[in-house]
Amino acid sequence: MSLRTLESLGELKGKRVVVRCDLNVPLNDGVIADDGRIRASLPTLMRLIQAGARVIVVSHLGRPDGEPDARYSLAPVARRLGELLAMPVVFASDTIGSSASESAARLGDGGIALLENLRFNPDETSKDTVARTTFAAKLAAFGDAFVSDGFGVVHRKQASVYELAKALPSAAGLLIQQELDVLERLTVTPEKPYTVVLGGSKVSDKLAVIGALLSKVDRLLIGGGMLFTFLAALGHRVGASLLEADQIDAVKGYLAEAERLGVDIVLPTDIVVASKFAANAEHVVVAAGSIEDTAFGASGLGLDIGPDTAARFSELIMESKTVFWNGPMGVFELAPFAAGTLAVASALSTFDGFGVVGGGDSAAAVRALGFNDDQFGHISTGGGASLEFLEGKSLPGLEVLGWHK
Ligand code: 3PG
Repeated sequence: MSLRTLESLGELKGKRVVVRCDLNVPLNDGVIADDGRIRASLPTLMRLIQAGARVIVVSHLGRPDGEPDARYSLAPVARRLGELLAMPVVFASDTIGSSASESAARLGDGGIALLENLRFNPDETSKDTVARTTFAAKLAAFGDAFVSDGFGVVHRKQASVYELAKALPSAAGLLIQQELDVLERLTVTPEKPYTVVLGGSKVSDKLAVIGALLSKVDRLLIGGGMLFTFLAALGHRVGASLLEADQIDAVKGYLAEAERLGVDIVLPTDIVVASKFAANAEHVVVAAGSIEDTAFGASGLGLDIGPDTAARFSELIMESKTVFWNGPMGVFELAPFAAGTLAVASALSTFDGFGVVGGGDSAAAVRALGFNDDQFGHISTGGGASLEFLEGKSLPGLEVLGWHK
């Protein structure tokens, strides 16, 4: 079955349409560091506004603990969305309370409101289906139809992604359609050599996809936070670097499986180790196995791949025909630890093949480092979602819209 599209919703004029976007943008002291996900949401929102729908947008931002937390408010996003649409965006200060229902009720045809962060409500991400269904029913009460366009969350079985799509006549938005078109190109006969580059800080999420990716790719380059769990699996000490100790056995299993399948897992041979997590931290480059052998000892913190690794990764990307990259190689937001990410981005922007940058952090990284979107084959708004798609998983947020592999 294929994805239900906007056309399936019929006449939109005067219809109240709840739209799930992924407006989970990086914020720096309340200032939006990269508005790529907001821009990516515009085509669907504009289509609905122009058709005269009354548009009620819902989204999450970050991972608050199921209660209001000003650091994760969508208020700055509402302001930016208004600027980009060049029209007022009503901002509701709650998600299912009186502010949300008044904001939704006041909308005229072609008007738009954004409700406060879905994840200020514990039921949005609850493991309990009844809790999620009850929460989704409250969101559904604001609309006559539902449009799912948050590609970055289609791998999450959460109330606004899954149960809400069941509660109302529902369809996929234009962003989800566009993302699927590109990602299908990577799953159906990708040109070889096919390289996946993994980094970033959501370590547990990403480690979980490696097992399935091994049967699909020729080589996997490992940087970012997860590299330290790999180094630990090889018996190295990693100082105070990010480590998922409970994943070490799983990683040993991936290394053995990769050897059996003839897939190269390429690990860093050198690391930039810092005294602390700060732009002005003292730092040195050491061999990957010697993180604790610096003046910082066991408090040394690996914050980027080293220059030899960056050069090797670039070389391997240049030799590839298809590359998917998810997750920065280091803490690119701090200048001394941006070189690894910069090297990967440069190689990906110049190699002779199809290159996809996946995920909010990676997209933010390439833009922050001065690249333009059109220097890459595609910049996906979904990190975890695109990885799970490439693994060949059927994603709940797509399935519920009629899509099957
Ligand atoms: C993302 O940043 O990948 C999406 O917005 C999903 O966020 P999550 O990993 O917190 O569910």
